[in-house]
Order: sequence, then structure tokens, then C-alpha cells
Amino acid sequence: KDDVVQTDVLIVGSGPAGSAAALFLSNQGIANIMITKYRWTANTPRAHITNQRTMEVLRDAGIEDQVLAEAVPHELMGDTVYCESLAGEEIGRRPTWGNRPDRRADYELASPSMPCDIPQTLLEPIILKNATMRGTQTQFSTEYLGHTQDDEGVSVQVLNRLTGHTYTIRAKYMIGADGARSKVAEDINLPMEGDMDIGGSMNITFKADLSHLAAHRPSILYWVFHPGSNIGGLGAGLVRMVRPWNEWLVVWGFDINGKPPVLDNEEAIQIVRNLVGIEDLEVEILGYSLWGNNNQYATHLQKGRVFCAGDAIHKHPPSHGLGSNTSIQDSYNLCWKLAYVIKEKAGPELLESYSIERAPIAKQIVTRANGSSAEYKPIFDALGVTDATTNEEFTEKLALRKENSPGGARRRTALRAALDAKDYEFNAQGTEIGHYYDSTAVVTDDKPRPELTEDPMLHHQKSTFPGLRLPHAWLGDEKEKYSTHDIAKGTCFTIFTGITGQAWADAAARVSERLDIEITTVVVGEGQPVQDLYGDWLRQREVDEDGVILVRPDKHIGWRAYRMVEDPEAALFKVFSALLHKE
Ligand code: FDA
Repeated sequence: KDDVVQTDVLIVGSGPAGSAAALFLSNQGIANIMITKYRWTANTPRAHITNQRTMEVLRDAGIEDQVLAEAVPHELMGDTVYCESLAGEEIGRRPTWGNRPDRRADYELASPSMPCDIPQTLLEPIILKNATMRGTQTQFSTEYLGHTQDDEGVSVQVLNRLTGHTYTIRAKYMIGADGARSKVAEDINLPMEGDMDIGGSMNITFKADLSHLAAHRPSILYWVFHPGSNIGGLGAGLVRMVRPWNEWLVVWGFDINGKPPVLDNEEAIQIVRNLVGIEDLEVEILGYSLWGNNNQYATHLQKGRVFCAGDAIHKHPPSHGLGSNTSIQDSYNLCWKLAYVIKEKAGPELLESYSIERAPIAKQIVTRANGSSAEYKPIFDALGVTDATTNEEFTEKLALRKENSPGGARRRTALRAALDAKDYEFNAQGTEIGHYYDSTAVVTDDKPRPELTEDPMLHHQKSTFPGLRLPHAWLGDEKEKYSTHDIAKGTCFTIFTGITGQAWADAAARVSERLDIEITTVVVGEGQPVQDLYGDWLRQREVDEDGVILVRPDKHIGWRAYRMVEDPEAALFKVFSALLHKE
């Protein structure tokens, strides 16, 4: 009996999904324990591209400044280069991650936060530190062994790997954020679709000063079309900046069906020198590892009181940088719901909306990441090197793109089209911030979702239609400027209305009392504490001034009314009761 530790939520894993869950729960004042098998956080830089939606989430959690202080800024991210080697001839460039002049405005208009680049080795400790400072009990060198659950909670067997001592943690709920080989997901038998280990990759991290090859065309990714780059890997060879411009990570493929390559220091140095294109480059190898590419997602994310998040439910190549981002966003969706249910401000049925809302996203991002890998093939085809069997043939064909002939001209046209199509990986704001939820945690009227007018992968739908993400607009007064995302806090619901919608605000105060939930009320307008400084909100809210927009704690629209109704209190009460399953 002495060996049972009690908590509200046990989180297995301290990666992006686990540490973010710990932070969000601690921000809500929910007792939580986070265990991780190892003695520290990620030991390789793996994830780095941190998209706008994740930055918004981290901003809401109060750590955006800390992340930006360690990150490589947006303007150094995106002069993406395609080349024969870093020192060799260029094949083409394309500005990315919102750095293309014609897309930059889309990024700036959509969010108070721009993308940035921060290696996982730096991001995880920031999230974990803040979670722990705000209440999380973080247990390193502690392994999840198994669990049982009943109507009241989950009993989890864990092993202290330092002492060899096994003990039980009793939690109301458990989150399995234990990565792509998740034992928690296996134990609750989550249904999976797709395959694991469909391609072979190796990561080599190294130090070398490459400023002279990178600083004038700053990018986080340099794609290399070198003999062998058409086998396995991410679709092409990659030299990725870890820190500008002296710390790097190479991703190189191998045939998963053949014998795994022997990767020793000498072999690693040779691969780095080949991709950089300098035969006697001074290289300090920091580490190397082999890993498999996956194409698998869970179609259901929960069993009873146990939920999975992160790579445990979506396993895919790093192409497009969706893994860590989506993992953090999974936890953002789940944790406000857990907090509301644990505090008895919502019925447990609310938790079912997690799987309904996030499983389609898991499928979508696994499909996209694998699609992004496959979209290198048209570049190989345009270059004519797809089927090159020897290094000599590959090098010979690579030169054909420069030929003064109709064939050369055709290659150049096809090449540019193939490079432009990489926008689906590198300028795909819709994929990154365009998530839409359709569940009982969203209340819609009888009107259908408006038709999409733009490509949903490249552009997000700017609308207050319930289920979509709250549009960003700058609001404020003569002293301050803040986003709609700043004013809608992650710990409570928010309603936005206008001056003639004051009755909604009064009604919200009464509903807040009746349901014992916090509701932030924002009346936007002239002479009010919150003003629509640029008219951006007016242009985006899609409801009349006396209408109302209800925003969930994860800043997705929960409901809206176009105009004032006869009994706003009854209307709000009905919506909140349905949304929170409080009837
Ligand atoms: P993750 O695998 O990070 O963490 C799992 C945690 O579970 C660890 O803390 C581990 O100790 C713990 N654990 C496992 N088993 C346990 C047990 N039995 N008991 C206790 N603890 C246990 N993503 C992105 O968004 N942008 C990007 O740019 C990139 N780039 C990128 C490049 C490369 C080369 C790679 C390989 C990957 C990326 N990614 C990425 C993907 C990203 O790294 C990945 O999606 C996240 O790490 C997933 O986070 P999780 O928290 O789900 O699992």
C-alpha cells in the first residue's frame, strides 16, 4: 500500500507531446506526474521546424519568449537550396516557410507568431523546465511497464531504473506520449493503419564551419542530389542546419531491404564530405544513428481513461517537420478537456471528442509527410537520374539539365515545375494551421461549412465557422496591442461580441455562475477597453456587431450566433451545456 503514489494525470514520456501535456496541465492547476525512461530529454536535435500553430500554443502557455531566445529566427529559415553538393553547383532555390515575398503576408496576417527553428534538444528542456516549475512531478530514469484500469482510475506499474525498484502510480487518467514504438498504445490496442519501416535513413550530426557555403543563402535545409540520393531516406540527401552555420545534421538514405550500412566514424565523415562536396573538410562527428521511415497512424486514440498523443499515434518521415508540432498540438487539444473533466466542469463524454478531433489530423499529417517525401521523385525525373544505376551515370545525367538542346530546355521547364511543387511541403500554411474539428465539442447551426476557395494544403480557411481555428486580429488600445489569440486564454472559454452585443456579455456572466465555469468576455469596439484598432476583427468575424463568437480554450471556435437573440442567456446556457456535456 505504501508503494502507491497518487496523482490526477500520469504522463508517460517527456518528448514534445509529453512535456507539453505536463505544461498545459500544470498551467490549469492539475496535479500530474511525467515519467521518462531516460536520464534526460532528447539527445539528438531531431525536430526543429516549429510552425505558427505550435508557436501560438507555446505563446498561450507563456513560453514563446523563452523559445524565441534560443531559436534561429524566421528570416534565416527559408532560402531552401537544391544542389549537387553544398560546395557544388546549384540546381535551384525556392524561398520557404513564409519567406517567399508573395506568401509572407499570408503568414503575417494569419498569426501573432511566425515559424522559427529550434532543435528538439533545446526545445524539450524549455517545455519540461516550465512544466516542472509550475507543478509537474518529473521522474527521469523511470520506465512504464504496464497498467490496469477500472471505473475510477488507472494503476500504472513503473520501474525506477536507478534502484531497480518497481512501484505503482494511481492516476485518474494516463497519457501515453511514449513515441513511435509506444508500449501504451500497444497495451490499449489502438487500431493502426499503414506500415512501419518502409525506408531506411541515417542521421549524422557534425560540427564544421560552413558559413561560406550557407550565410549568403540562409536556409535550414540544403537538399543534395548526389549519387545514391535516390535510395531510401527522405527522398533526397539532406544537409540540415542545427546551429548557423557550424553545427549540422545529415540525413542520408539506405535500402531498407538490404544489409544495414555499417556506420563508423570514417564512414560518417565520408558521407558528410560527399554531401558538402569538400573532400578534405574538417569534420567533427557528434553522433550517428540508423532509423526507419514509417507510414502509420492510429484511427482511434483512447481506451477508457488512457489516451495516446504524439508519435504514438502518428508515425511518419520528418519531411515537412510535422511530428513534434503535431505532438504538441495533440496535447493542447487533450489537456483542456482533461482539466475540465477533472475539475468536474465538464462531463467525461467531452474526452471522447479528443479522438474524434485529432485522429483525422493524425491521418492527414502522416499522408502529407509521406507525400512530401514522394514529391522528390519528379525532381529526379526532371533531372533524368531516377533510374541511374552507377555513380558515373548519375553524374553524367545530372549535367543534361544544362544542355543547349530542346531536350535540355524541356528538362529545365520540368525541373522548375517540380521544385515549385515542393510548396506542398515548404509553404503549406494550410496544412500547418488549417485544422478543423467536427465533434460534439463544437456546436454548429444548420448552415454547412463554407466552400473552400483556395487549396486547403497551401492556404487555411479564414473563417469563424465553428470548428475552425480562431482568426488572428490585432486588437488593443492606445497603450497596448495584442492578438485575439492573446485575449482568449488557454485556461478558459472566451466570448467575443460588439457594443450592441452587450447583452451577450451580461448573459455570459450569469451562465458562468450557473455552470461554475470561467468565461472571459470581450466586448470589442469604440470606447471599450478592447478596440478593433485596424478594423481587422470587423473584417474577419463574419457575424454582426451584436452577434457572438464563442472560443474554446484551445482557440478553436466552439459556436457562433450571427446576431442578438431574444434570450441570450438561454442560448449560451444551452450551447455550453451541450459542449461540456453538463446536462
Ligand atoms: P518522442 O519520441 O519525442 O518521445 C518519447 C518519450 O517517451 C521519450 O521521453 C522517451 O523517454 C519516453 N518513453 C518511451 N518509452 C517509455 C517507457 N516505456 N517508459 C517511460 N518513458 C518512455 N518534427 C517536427 O515537428 N519538426 C521537425 O522539423 C522535425 N524534424 C525531424 C527530423 C528528424 C531527423 C527526425 C528523426 C524527426 C523529426 N521530427 C520533426 C519528428 C519529431 O522528432 C517527433 O515527431 C517527436 O519527437 C515526437 O514527439 P513525442 O513526444 O510523441 O515522442
